[in-house]
Amino acid sequence: RKVTVSLIKADVGSVAGHTTVPDELKKAAEENLKNAVDSGLIIDFRVFNAGDDLELLMTHDKGVDSEEIHRLAWETFEKAAGIAKELKLYGAGQDLLKDAFSGNVRGLGPGVAEMEFTERKAEPVIAFMMDKTEPGAFNMPIFRMFADPFNTAGLVIDPTMHQGFVFEIWDIKESKRVFMRTPEEMYDILALIGGKSRFVIKRVYPKEGGKLPADEPVAVISTEKLYEVAGEYVGKDDPVALVRAQSGLPAVGEVLEPFAFPHLVSGWMRGSHNGPIMPVPFKYSKCTRFDGPPRCIAAGFQLANGKIIGPVDMFDDPAFDYTRQKAMEIAEYMRRHGPFEPHRLPSEDMEYTTLPKVLEKLKGRFEEV
Ligand code: 13P
Ligand code: 13P
Ligand code: MG
Ligand code: MG
Ligand code: MG
Repeated sequence: RKVTVSLIKADVGSVAGHTTVPDELKKAAEENLKNAVDSGLIIDFRVFNAGDDLELLMTHDKGVDSEEIHRLAWETFEKAAGIAKELKLYGAGQDLLKDAFSGNVRGLGPGVAEMEFTERKAEPVIAFMMDKTEPGAFNMPIFRMFADPFNTAGLVIDPTMHQGFVFEIWDIKESKRVFMRTPEEMYDILALIGGKSRFVIKRVYPKEGGKLPADEPVAVISTEKLYEVAGEYVGKDDPVALVRAQSGLPAVGEVLEPFAFPHLVSGWMRGSHNGPIMPVPFKYSKCTRFDGPPRCIAAGFQLANGKIIGPVDMFDDPAFDYTRQKAMEIAEYMRRHGPFEPHRLPSEDMEYTTLPKVLEKLKGRFEEV
């Protein structure tokens, strides 16, 4: 039997400033999704927040890009945004960039990671949700899960994984995509995805002839670029990802292992700074220091005919304390650079900048040298 898992998110308002989603909004979302379970539209759901982003995890049998499911998400965000406006929350309705729903939330502001697949005898899935960063933040961890033998022992020692995987990589500036294979094209893949503001991993597939169907994704990442939607940069598109695990795929521990390294991602204060991504338990899914540092939560669950068994708060573990400590050392080190690159992003990647105005003001004072 095929099941679809949809993880759809939007920042519809937060307290204080860009810190976190208040319970009022999460409760409203839960109510809406509960009704959708009762009416038979979805099978199950969980509501999370990644910092100031409201996250709707839903299971159903309508496939990806379903108008009904996307409408449900959109209406849920609109309802929450309405409450956010009443409460005068910060950035109420921030990511709802269009006034009306038109068939699909893609291009309207919310971020989407969804995949349809045949539910296996045991189907472990990890939902990763990040705040204060962008989709390219997933490039390194997803690559390491599915292609780095120093991360994933199974690539070397598990006969069902040894053949490698297929990566679907998007050029989000040119709106193009390419399918590439590991291990044979590893260096070419890295040449692309190392440039994480432009090339992002969208999906991972098994290879043909393996244990799993080659046309069913095993990982998917949201790649919505808000600034392209709004015509200007209105917010970093805080990303989410779904990753399936075990039996021909990386073990759950191999899926989590890349997050033991708090790599540098862009986002943080005003969407304009590089900083470490810190794996945190749900209770620390809020952004404080310099509106950060960027954070990631992980919800682990099993599927049982579309029902969600769990979630487990995967980073709620002293096993990630060292990483968090390291992240804070890096945060401290990066902060000391103040307005200098590479803490501050290069101009073209900044969410907002005064540079054109400063240059305009100084126009008459620049001399030839
Ligand atoms: P258990 O022996 O605890 O089932 O673990 C098996 C395993 O492969 C862990 O990676
Ligand atoms: P969000 O993208 O999480 O809303 O954060 C925006 C920001 O400017 C934080 O300083
Ligand atoms: Mg916000
Ligand atoms: Mg956010
Ligand atoms: Mg953002």
